[in-house]
Amino acid sequence: MTALGLMGLGVMGANLARNFVDHGATLALYDPAAGAADRLAADLGRSGRACADPAALVAALPAPRTVFLMVPAGAPTDAAIDSLLPRMAAGDAIIDGGNAFYKDTARRQARCAGANIHLLGFGVSGGAEGARHGPAIMAGGDRAVLDRLAPIFNAIAAKAPDGTACFARVGDGAAGHFVKTVHNGIEYAHMQLIAEAWQLLRRLVGLSQAEVRELFARWARGSLSSFLMECAVRALDTMDPADGTPLIERIVDTAEQKGTGLWTANAALEYGVAAPTLAEAVHARCLSALKDTRLAAAAALGAPSIAFSGDRQALIAALEKALMAANIAVLAQGFALIRAVNAEHGWGIDPAVVARVWRGGCIIRSTLLEPIAEAFSASPDLDNLLRHAALWRLVAAGDSEWRQVAVTAVAHGVPAPAFTSALAYVDGLRTGRLWADMIAAQRDIFGQHGFARFDAPGRHHADWAPLDLAPRQGGR
Ligand code: 6PG
Repeated sequence: MTALGLMGLGVMGANLARNFVDHGATLALYDPAAGAADRLAADLGRSGRACADPAALVAALPAPRTVFLMVPAGAPTDAAIDSLLPRMAAGDAIIDGGNAFYKDTARRQARCAGANIHLLGFGVSGGAEGARHGPAIMAGGDRAVLDRLAPIFNAIAAKAPDGTACFARVGDGAAGHFVKTVHNGIEYAHMQLIAEAWQLLRRLVGLSQAEVRELFARWARGSLSSFLMECAVRALDTMDPADGTPLIERIVDTAEQKGTGLWTANAALEYGVAAPTLAEAVHARCLSALKDTRLAAAAALGAPSIAFSGDRQALIAALEKALMAANIAVLAQGFALIRAVNAEHGWGIDPAVVARVWRGGCIIRSTLLEPIAEAFSASPDLDNLLRHAALWRLVAAGDSEWRQVAVTAVAHGVPAPAFTSALAYVDGLRTGRLWADMIAAQRDIFGQHGFARFDAPGRHHADWAPLDLAPRQGGR
């Protein structure tokens, strides 16, 4: 029987505790909130033991000890580690199951390693429901410790459609938390795409909430089957209990964020990886939060929306294909980011393992993850998912429909930053000759930064023509 310490007994921690106990673990429990450990222990019966403080928690465990932290990221995690470290012994392990910033995890791992204690970073996805009945777990850290703990985590994890546990060691060091961060960046972008589809259908085409619900439900049953699409159907199915009208119409159009999407966008910029839609999804939330400014600007400048004059059915059909293509483009950006950052850190992340873990339990689970896992299994060195024939066929099948959606949004003044940025990403990726020759030239003109030439190796500077704005005969 696995004996674990569990520290942090909020909704996520308590649900994980119940999940552990369902699978035969015994738990030593601690939470700084008075009475929290006692209440949960009473609930868990003989499998849970309340501990008065971190010292008692550590003392209650057999060596080598494992303490799972489910505390808020940032300072509370550092405080929890501070309280445990002096009481633990060489060979013990602390698992941080929070949404930690991956660089914090690396720093904490170095600190714990000084005391020969393993700090493992687990990306845990699936919210409260997932914690209770099966989360996806992206684990990073020491292989031997993870091998020892694998049976209990395989047991509590969600199961993919083929029955495989959605728990895996994705790599060394902070790999688990980094992969979870990118998961959340993808989550933001997939949510944004669905939100843009909703905006186009409800507020441009003028479908009712019930009609959009029908459409989304059909998509969720078919080609666009995903947890987030199911969430969208639920959002449109829910009525305000006060008067039975659609709740969605009363929800203020401002989106909050806790920071993981920002970390993903920051990582893309820091490591020089193009992930425009992951970043746009963060910007889009920021723009949504400017409600007062938007209202004032709409009143003063006029709203951009232009009445829809196109073919409703054609746009609806196009949106389904565009969503599929854009969802894949977002995943391509996420995996490209993982590939680049993994190469810098040498975490040993296998993208096929990541795709397999994401097939169940997590927020971005969808039927797309299966062909993606297969693509990376067959071609582990694939530099971009869009270069895999099977995935590209899915994108190409919606090419003209995606353009139709983007053109319609732009022509009617409906902001659709996820659809348009993802399309520009795909177009940019397969444009052999881009506009950057002009950027290189300008840089050399004003800053002598140099440029590369097709016809000669090395760096070059030019003796640029002097400014002459006079019209030339023949347009030269
Ligand atoms: C998950 C979710 C979870 C949480 C997000 C919400 O995988 O279970 O991603 O971690 O819902 O952190 O993030 P925002 O508050 O930033 O939207």
